[in-house]
Amino acid sequence: MIKSILSAALAWGIVGVLAPRSAQAQAQAPEKTREKVGLRNLAISRGLRLGTAAPIDLLRSDSADSLAYRAFLLSNFNMVEPENDLKPPAIWKGEGVYSFGVADWLLGAPGQLGWAQRNGFAVRGHVLVYARDEGYTLPQWIRDRGAGISPDKARQLLKDYIYAVAGRYKGKVFAWDVINEAIDDAPNQRPFQMRDSFWFRKLGRDFVKLAFQFAHEADPQAELYLNEYGAEGLGRKSDAVLELARWLRSQGVFISGVGMQWHRGLGEKVVPGSDFYQNAERLRKDGFDFQITELDVALPVKPYPAEDPRHGQEPSSPDSLSQQADAYRAMLRYALSFPNCRGLQMWGFSDRHSWIQSFSGGKNGAALVSDAAYQPKPAYLALHQELAASSPPATP
Ligand code: G3I
Repeated sequence: MIKSILSAALAWGIVGVLAPRSAQAQAQAPEKTREKVGLRNLAISRGLRLGTAAPIDLLRSDSADSLAYRAFLLSNFNMVEPENDLKPPAIWKGEGVYSFGVADWLLGAPGQLGWAQRNGFAVRGHVLVYARDEGYTLPQWIRDRGAGISPDKARQLLKDYIYAVAGRYKGKVFAWDVINEAIDDAPNQRPFQMRDSFWFRKLGRDFVKLAFQFAHEADPQAELYLNEYGAEGLGRKSDAVLELARWLRSQGVFISGVGMQWHRGLGEKVVPGSDFYQNAERLRKDGFDFQITELDVALPVKPYPAEDPRHGQEPSSPDSLSQQADAYRAMLRYALSFPNCRGLQMWGFSDRHSWIQSFSGGKNGAALVSDAAYQPKPAYLALHQELAASSPPATP
């Protein structure tokens, strides 16, 4: 496997990183890449922000896997979003206590550049407020103090945190998911069908309004999004998202639009006239942008045990790879069809690093555009073909 990963790194054209370098040296110099027309150059010539989520640890390490990972990223994307490193539990360690070291590697401390800028990536920020109460969404110290925090104190904490984070990376994060997953999966009586959460219990629906207001004050140029899953087509959740977005605007609050996560399977038919197109169109008519923020297309996979390297990576049916390719192609066409679509981002790009297999208990996986050895899958080739066909010809 290591051998095939190294050859993938070479094939993707990264040189100059074979000799281990310190993380600091790496952040200070742009990666050198060989000429190669990956998706990145095609996306740039098409004016498309094409991105991926990536864990910063994997970006900064000197392992053979990391080398291949970065090579693929550099050849194929112009936008990146730290998968977990900008979530509140990763940064917010106590009242007024922030851990910025990892995020600074990508974005640079104030007055400095980070790896992302040196390598020409636009950065999406995920997420200022993750509106649920699990340990991966809400810092443990807030969970511990929960009931003892007054509404006034909660408001002050929210302001302090958003000012600290969005303020630190002002001008470096072009778009923030201000609120993630605020709408509940079950119908309920709360305003906008919101989820019960620490922030909702303390501040009611105003927590959303305040978060957008503070984010805009901290970085007036940043695009600001409400990010949600299961709200891609028409239905209760997407209605609630749209109503919430309209309400924010009616309150004089700046909002760019809606992030649609798009964790999907093969079932959805994303074609003109479908409710997916209708939902994007109604956002456009209302003057809201949208972004595809977390695209992956999960397939049923062979049930290898978790310790087997093939776990989550071999589709049960070989046909499903071509159906997956059609699904990715359809998503690109959908993104390119709408002037209010401000970017297409995938939730990773290699089946070696994806949340799907562990989350689905090994039933689904193989959701991304390259396999575990960073070899392109049919989905990658479909995107390449589609982008090449829709890009203006290069000038000699
Ligand atoms: O890094 C630790 C490791 O040291 C430890 O041994 C292991 C034991 O559980 O956990 C590892 O951390 C895990 C982390 O992913 C890195 O793999 C966390 O437990 C796990 O909770 C975390 O899951 C992340 C999940 O959000 C929860 O934060 C996934 O990586 C991430 O892909 C997923 O992303 C979410 C988006 O933020 C919002 N939309 C849905 C999407 C998928 O669930």
